[in-house]
Amino acid sequence: MEKLVSSWGNNVKALPHNYIFPPELRPGNNLKIPFTTNIPTDLSELENYHHRFQTIQKIIKASEEFGFFQVINHGVDINLMKETRKVMKELFEMGDEYKQKLYSEDPLKPCRLYTSRPTYATDGNLHLWRDSFIHPCHPLDQWQHLWPQNPTKYREYVGACSVEVKKLASRILRLISEGVGLECEYFEKGGLSGSMLVSLNHYPACPEPSLTLGVSKHSDPNLVTILLQDYVSGLQVLHNGKWIAVEPLPDAFLVNVGFQLQIISNGRLQCCDHRVVTNSSDARTTAAFFVAPLDDSFIEPAQAFIDEYHPPFFKSFKYKDFRSYYIAEKGDTEVVMESFLA
Ligand code: OGA
Ligand code: NI
Repeated sequence: MEKLVSSWGNNVKALPHNYIFPPELRPGNNLKIPFTTNIPTDLSELENYHHRFQTIQKIIKASEEFGFFQVINHGVDINLMKETRKVMKELFEMGDEYKQKLYSEDPLKPCRLYTSRPTYATDGNLHLWRDSFIHPCHPLDQWQHLWPQNPTKYREYVGACSVEVKKLASRILRLISEGVGLECEYFEKGGLSGSMLVSLNHYPACPEPSLTLGVSKHSDPNLVTILLQDYVSGLQVLHNGKWIAVEPLPDAFLVNVGFQLQIISNGRLQCCDHRVVTNSSDARTTAAFFVAPLDDSFIEPAQAFIDEYHPPFFKSFKYKDFRSYYIAEKGDTEVVMESFLA
């Protein structure tokens, strides 16, 4: 597979010209910025009233200020996380002939391996240093039969992990609801969290990390994203105009606010621009679970955030119309945000 970066092995000593970003978009000196102190949120013992209150406050504050936080003691089995990471890596190490079968440049194919961006075929001459395998993963019985049968444990582990992550997402959305004064099941209604896609991202070790990116600056179009990482760092988040590096905490999940949560909360919770940098020594593999509204779900700022001083800052729309627009504008945060303002 000449297009997949995971198929190039270690033979590439210099970055091909179509992976070299223009100087203003390169990570350059921002490649090795220090990690921000990120104290993870502990989701255990939430029946303790005091602890529950503090945990919720922490989640809300982080979502208002940074648009992301990390959670530990989240209820997802640590061994399942380990096995899922293993099977994800195995997928990208499969032979080229097999990967060729999974590869597709058709954005309408529900389960496919691609490289760079989902729109590779129309992307022109600048690519990202990553391969991705993407497919829906909720409801499981609707999709699991479309997933690969190799690696042999793929369906089992990615399936079990998806179920656990979806439960975790629901718990987090309930805590958020409680924190901002929405009814507890707000995000379970109207299909607001009715779908989930998983994107397995693989960023091979890169010969010249300062010149390229694994993922360029974007905010996620969905409601909320739950990220499973390994010990290799790479994620950076834009905060007050500066890139900050996110330390991958062992056994934690990273949670980030997507556009829809920002819109429904009428701007109180912030989606965050983020990107991925590569490094020259280690490959990095992550799983981004995108919890999203159903296509026909109706999105608008919730009444709880609207009063005479806070009119709706965003339009009402169907989620599928937002998504099409996001794809057409290649996820440009400013352009997308601007066109959904009220
Ligand atoms: C994404 C994303 C981050 C990562 O897939 O939208 O931002 O660390 N991934 O892989
Ligand atoms: Ni993202």
